[in-house]
Amino acid sequence: MNNEELLTFARHAMQMSYSPYSNCKVGAALLAKNGKVYEGCNIENAAYGPTMCAERTAIFKAVSEGVTEFEKIAIVGGKNGVEDGLYPPCGVCRQVMREFCSLDFPVILGKKDGFVETTLEELLPYSFGPENLN
Ligand code: THU
Repeated sequence: MNNEELLTFARHAMQMSYSPYSNCKVGAALLAKNGKVYEGCNIENAAYGPTMCAERTAIFKAVSEGVTEFEKIAIVGGKNGVEDGLYPPCGVCRQVMREFCSLDFPVILGKKDGFVETTLEELLPYSFGPENLN
C-alpha cells in the first residue's frame, strides 16, 4: 500500500476523533505486516489526563488483537478537522512505537498538500527499547 492510500485511512480515522476539549482531530492508520490497516483517533476526556492519542489507539487496537508486527504508520490532524501543517506524534506515542517497530519504521506525516516521510529513529534518537533490558 502506498503512502497516499494509507493517508486516506488516517483521514477516515480523523473523522472519528472525540475531541470536544481541544477540537484537534487526529487520525492514524497503522499498516500491519499481515496487510491489515488499524485506524485510530484521539479520544479526549473531561479529566484531560485519560486522553488517548490517535497513534496509540491504533497500536493498541492491533496489539489487543494479537498483531505486533508493523510496516508503517500515517498520521494526520488539524484544528476542527481541517488539515493544515504536520501533526507529529507526541513523545509517549514515539516510545510506544519503539516497543513494536524497528528504528527504520516509516512514519508518514500528512498535511494539506502532500506528506513528509520520516523514521522512528529520526523522531526518537538514542532511544531506550526492549533490548536495553536484556
Ligand atoms: N494528539 C494525538 O492524538 N496524537 C499525538 O501524538 C499528539 C496529540 C491529540 C491528543 C489531544 O486530543 C489533542 O491531540 C491535542 O493535544
